[in-house]
Amino acid sequence: MTPQPTETREPAAILSTRERGTWSVTAPTILTPSKRSSDNAAAGTVKTLFDRPRWIEPCHLYDERGSLLFEELCELPEYYPTRTEAAILERESGTLMNLAPVECIVELGAGFSKKTIHLLKALTRARGRGTFAPVDVSATALMASKRMAEELFPELAFTGLEARFEDAITSITRDIPKLVVFLGSTIGNFAPTDMLHFFTHLCDHMGPDDYLLLGVDRIKDPEIIERAYDDSRGVTAAFILNAFSNVNRITGAGFQPDKISYRSGYNRERQQVEMYGVSTETHRVEFPRHSASFTWEKDEGILVETSRKFDPDDLQVQLRCFGLENLGHWTDSNEWFSLLLFRRSAPSGGLESR
Ligand SMILES: C[S@@+](CC[C@H](N)C(=O)[O-])C[C@H]1O[C@@H](n2cnc3c(N)ncnc32)[C@H](O)[C@@H]1O
Repeated sequence: MTPQPTETREPAAILSTRERGTWSVTAPTILTPSKRSSDNAAAGTVKTLFDRPRWIEPCHLYDERGSLLFEELCELPEYYPTRTEAAILERESGTLMNLAPVECIVELGAGFSKKTIHLLKALTRARGRGTFAPVDVSATALMASKRMAEELFPELAFTGLEARFEDAITSITRDIPKLVVFLGSTIGNFAPTDMLHFFTHLCDHMGPDDYLLLGVDRIKDPEIIERAYDDSRGVTAAFILNAFSNVNRITGAGFQPDKISYRSGYNRERQQVEMYGVSTETHRVEFPRHSASFTWEKDEGILVETSRKFDPDDLQVQLRCFGLENLGHWTDSNEWFSLLLFRRSAPSGGLESR
């Protein structure tokens, strides 16, 4: 089917007409849900910290400092995923935009959208116009993405959605054919059940002419992976431990940075890196706003982030079960990272009736 021209300079046009009234403008061309899921962030965060084992939702890594630290760690020599994925995108973006003949790119968890520049170049070369809509919980990241897009791609309409994935996916219109881009192996940060919920929700809301581009980090020599998540300059450690300062800000908790150290390791059975903040001495952590506290035992870890590694063949079978048909698979010469392009296949089970 030939997609209809879609470009529009009205930022809210990226949202379905039913949802538009539930979003507000926070800055020119940046929208956010008027009632965000993050309004309950404090209660949600306290819940996970009183779970056993204790854990923190990874989105709490990305306050302003966390977003800047993430950009810094992407440049580290040990952190191979960013430069490997960027090289594949640079090589294949023209092919990708031919296979996905759309004028709109929606990027989930966009960060600073540096790698996306390759796709946006291919979009403007192929269509001469279009729309770019990055989605991110981090206002810092969205502003960087906006500056980049306005400077390099003035011919594109820009709408930034400062939102959690689920809020954006629910609200984005199905009427505009689009390429949904999810890079950086961010999907690997989801717990397995959250990943299944994510794909169910995404596929329920994808329109008949939508495509999905997924970047995933692959299973490889654990030593290479472990080095990538425990760099010699300590940037990854600072990034992970910053989550505790952000949790203090969100919940009013009393985590003491000088009593927390970083520990990470590759779990071969689960094929994932696990990144923890570990208590260096037994002490109590207070949550005065919630009239609660817990004893954090020496050496007990609080799980801050996991990064799962994937077998791209298994992933393709899994995603086929969600109604996603694979159109292409590209990798690097080491086969360390994969880019996978999918299209929503013919509906099975009434997806079109929504
Ligand atoms: C691993 S970084 C990837 C950034 C960029 N796509 C890249 O490949 O370098 C994950 C990004 O997703 C955002 N993020 C994390 N959890 C999110 C959520 N639940 N909803 C929306 N954005 C989220 C973070 O703010 C961060 O910018």
